Amino acid sequence: MMSFKAALLLSTPAVLALQWPDGTGKLPALGWNSWNAYHCDIDESRILNAANAIVEFGFKEAGYEYVNIDDCWSVKTGRDSKTKQLVPDPKRFPSGISGVANKIHNLGLKIGIYSSAGTMTCAGYPASIGYESIDAATWAAWGIDCKSLSNPSSKLDLKYDNCNVPSNWADKCNACVYNLNNPNNYVNGTCVNPGNYCPAGYNYTTSNSAKRYAIMRDALKAQNRTIQYALCSWGSAGVEQYGNATGNSWRMSDDIQNGFKYVTSILNMNSFNLNDVDFWGHPDADMLEVGNGGLSAAEERTHFAFWAAMKSPLLIGTNLYTASNESKSILLNKYLLAFNQDDVYGAPAKPYKWGTNPNFTFNATNPAEFWSGKSQHGTLVLMMNTLAVSRNMTADFGEIPSLDANGSYNVLDVWTGKNLGSLTSSLTVKVASHDTAALLFTS
Ligand SMILES: *[C@@H]1O[C@H](CO)[C@@H](O)[C@H](O)[C@H]1NC(C)=O
Ligand SMILES: *[C@@H]1O[C@H](CO)[C@@H](O)[C@H](O)[C@H]1NC(C)=O
Ligand SMILES: *[C@@H]1O[C@H](CO)[C@@H](O)[C@H](O)[C@H]1NC(C)=O
Ligand SMILES: *[C@@H]1O[C@H](CO)[C@@H](O)[C@H](O)[C@H]1NC(C)=O
Ligand SMILES: *[C@@H]1O[C@H](CO)[C@@H](O)[C@H](O)[C@H]1NC(C)=O
Ligand SMILES: *[C@@H]1O[C@H](CO)[C@@H](O)[C@H](O)[C@H]1NC(C)=O
Ligand SMILES: *[C@@H]1O[C@H](CO)[C@@H](O)[C@H](O)[C@H]1NC(C)=O
Ligand SMILES: *[C@@H]1O[C@H](CO)[C@@H](O)[C@H](O)[C@H]1NC(C)=O
Ligand SMILES: *[C@@H]1O[C@H](CO)[C@@H](O)[C@H](O)[C@H]1NC(C)=O
Repeated sequence: MMSFKAALLLSTPAVLALQWPDGTGKLPALGWNSWNAYHCDIDESRILNAANAIVEFGFKEAGYEYVNIDDCWSVKTGRDSKTKQLVPDPKRFPSGISGVANKIHNLGLKIGIYSSAGTMTCAGYPASIGYESIDAATWAAWGIDCKSLSNPSSKLDLKYDNCNVPSNWADKCNACVYNLNNPNNYVNGTCVNPGNYCPAGYNYTTSNSAKRYAIMRDALKAQNRTIQYALCSWGSAGVEQYGNATGNSWRMSDDIQNGFKYVTSILNMNSFNLNDVDFWGHPDADMLEVGNGGLSAAEERTHFAFWAAMKSPLLIGTNLYTASNESKSILLNKYLLAFNQDDVYGAPAKPYKWGTNPNFTFNATNPAEFWSGKSQHGTLVLMMNTLAVSRNMTADFGEIPSLDANGSYNVLDVWTGKNLGSLTSSLTVKVASHDTAALLFTS
C-alpha cells in the first residue's frame, strides 16, 4: 500500500515550477537576443560583437549573462539526413554554433539557442516537434568545453516558439486573448469575432499546447546541462496555467514591436497577470526595444522600469555599439536591475492605483500608472504619465501598500541616484509625457 506521504509526492509535481539544481530559473533571465536588433539577418560576427559589447560596456558586470541566437541560425533546407540533427548554417556560422559557444564562454557569458514547437520556425527553418530529444542533446553537446552541471558556464538558454504547429497537434479550442495586432477584437474580457473559444473555467493544462511544451521540457531535463527554458507561446492557450510547471518563463503576449503603444499594451495586459508571480516562474513581457530608435528617452525609461519591476526576463534587443549612451545607461540602471534580481523578494511590483482611468480598467494606451513593490533595498514606487503633456504626480504614502501613512522615508530618485531627503505623507514630482518617475523608499 502506498503511504500517504508518497501519494502526496506523486500528486504534486504538476504544480511545481521548473527548478534547476543550480538555482537557474529562480530569478528572471538577463541577457541579449538577436531578434529585435537584426531579425533574420544574423551571423557569427554579429553574435560575437554583441558578446563583446556586453563585456565592454559593463553589462556583464551588471549581471547580463546570456547571448541568445534567435531564429535563422540553421540550414533552411532541412536536417542532416543521417543524424537528423539541425545543422548550423555554414555561411553564417563558419565555426558552427559550438565554435561560437566556446568564444562566448571564454568571455564568461552563456549562449542561448532558438527553435519552435512546430514543424518549422516562424521564419521557415526546420523546427523541433517530433525531434525534441535529438535537438535537446545537440544543443547540450555544443560548448562541450564546459559540459558539467557544476560549471556555471554550462548553462544554456532555449527560446521555444509557437509557429507552424501541425494539424494533429491543434488545440481543441482557443483562449480568448487580447492581440496586439487586432486590439478591437477584445472588449472587456470578451472576444468579439466568432471563434472556437474554450468555455470559462477550461483547464488548459490538458491542452495539446501544454503537451507540446512539456515534451521539450522533459527532453531538456534529460540532458546534463542546465537549460533555462523560455516558452514563447504568445500568451495563448492559457499558458499562465501551465507555464510555471513547464518552463522558467512564458511569453504573456504576442510580439512587441518598436513603438510605445506596444509597451503600454503589454504593460496593460500583464498588470492583470501578476498576482501569483514569485520566484521560479516569470511571465515574459518580451524582449526589450530600448536602443532601437522607436521610443523617446522617456519612453525607454518607462519600458525598462516596468519590465524590470514586473520581474520579466530582461533581454536586450539592440546593437549596443550603435545604441546611445542614454539607452545604455537605462539598461544598466543598478536600482532597477537589483529589484528585478532580488533574491529575497520574488513578487513583482503591482499597480496600487490606475490613475487616469478608474481602478482595474483594461486600457491599452492608458494602463495603470501608479505601481509599487517591495525589495530588500526598499519599496520601489513607479509613477508613469500616460498622457500627452507633463503633469505633477503624487505618491501618497497612505495609498502605497507597504508604506505607513504616517511614516517618514528616505526617498531616492532611481534615475539620477539623488537622495530626495527624508519625507512624510506624500511626494509630488513632475513627470514628462510617457516618462516614469522611479523612487526607492527606505525607512
Ligand atoms: C466595458 O465595461 C465598462 C465598465 O463596466 C463599461 O462602462 C463599458 O461600457 C463596457 N464596454 C463595452 C463595449 O461593453
Ligand atoms: C488540470 O489538469 C491537470 C492535468 O490533468 C491536473 O493536474 C489539474 O489538477 C487540473 N486543474 C484543475 C484546476 O482542475
Ligand atoms: C549524464 O551524465 C551521466 C553521469 O556522468 C552519464 O551516465 C549520462 O550518460 C550523461 N547523459 C547525457 C545525456 O549526456
Ligand atoms: C511558480 O511556482 C513557484 C514554486 O512552486 C511558486 O512559488 C510561484 O508562485 C509560482 N508562480 C506562478 C506564477 O504560478
Ligand atoms: C558616450 O560615453 C563614452 C564613454 O563614457 C564617451 O566616450 C562618449 O563620448 C559618449 N558619447 C556621447 C555621444 O556622448
Ligand atoms: C483606487 O485604489 C486606490 C488605492 O487603494 C484608492 O485610493 C482609490 O480610491 C481607488 N480608486 C477608485 C476609483 O476606486
Ligand atoms: C483609454 O483611456 C483613455 C484615457 O481615459 C481614453 O481616452 C480612451 O478612450 C481609452 N481607450 C479605450 C479603447 O477605451
Ligand atoms: C506642478 O507643481 C509645481 C510646483 O507646485 C507647479 O509650479 C506647477 O505649475 C505644477 N504643474 C502642473 C502641470 O500642474
Ligand atoms: C496617522 O496619524 C493620524 C493623525 O495623528 C491618526 O489618526 C492615524 O490613526 C494614524 N495612522 C496610522 C496608520 O498610524
